[in-house]
Amino acid sequence: MKLIKTIAEMQQFSKAAAHHRQKIGVVPTMGFLHEGHMSLIDRAHNLADVVIVTIFVNPTQFGPNEDLAKYPRDFDQDWSLCEKRGVDAVFAPSPEEMYFPDRSAWVIEEKLSQGLCGQSRPAHFRGVTTVVAKLFNATLPDVAIFGQKDAQQAMIIKRMARDLNFPVEIVVAPIVREADGLAMSSRNKYLSADERIRALSISAAMRDAHARIKAEGGKISGIAEQIAAKITASGGRVDYVEVRDADSLEPASAATRCLLIAAAAYFGPTRLIDNILINLD
Ligand code: PAJ
Repeated sequence: MKLIKTIAEMQQFSKAAAHHRQKIGVVPTMGFLHEGHMSLIDRAHNLADVVIVTIFVNPTQFGPNEDLAKYPRDFDQDWSLCEKRGVDAVFAPSPEEMYFPDRSAWVIEEKLSQGLCGQSRPAHFRGVTTVVAKLFNATLPDVAIFGQKDAQQAMIIKRMARDLNFPVEIVVAPIVREADGLAMSSRNKYLSADERIRALSISAAMRDAHARIKAEGGKISGIAEQIAAKITASGGRVDYVEVRDADSLEPASAATRCLLIAAAAYFGPTRLIDNILINLD
């Protein structure tokens, strides 16, 4: 497995692979890898000949009061997980390699990034789209794999790739959960044992909502409030719970066929997100 730290070397590697008619699959990450990330790597192997994992804790997607400095990092463990999973190259640039001190160009998606996480994290998605565009320009992928765990992020990146003609197919893979239902996340490491138990209320409330919506023939009124109440009763501080149209990200209506219920909540200082897709057909 190759470790690549510069954009020039990364582009050279990918151009050589393309020259040999190899299909390139990329999995962008911020490291501290878990089985959720591994599922994206497995998917990349199914779709491409060469698999590149990028590991970069991207400063521009963290707000001034967010957890950039203490975001969990363990490069040695990430390296051995990637090696075991048959990754061909790890692209791990420094912040200095990725960003000029006087940078002034950004990639901005203006619609899908407005609500949900965009509401409470105003510059977050601008940082995500910018870094993902830069990672695409460095790794030159044919296909890139993202997780449904960050549903809004995946939709924004698809829109960016479509609207800006990036020659890359965006594939979205399902959420990987712990056995008890908690969605895997690098940030789960922050949770105390007590907070971790309380945090199960998010996935549990979503499963209950799923069952109720199915039982009541697609009725969604009061669902978001019910989920929020369950999270609050477990000691969580709700940021948002919303029922959206999974295709447009508009608020769900009676005509919506595929629902996305998305939630964000704090347990202690830790902000967790989760979502569920419900197909009504
Ligand atoms: P990160 O949080 O490290 O996640 C990297 C990728 O793994 C994302 O596509 C995310 O949706 C996916 N992922 C995380 N947890 C998952 C789970 N439990 N099941 C399935 N997929 C999961 O998302 C980012 O990094 C960054 O914003 C990034 C896109 C790399 C840009 O900096």
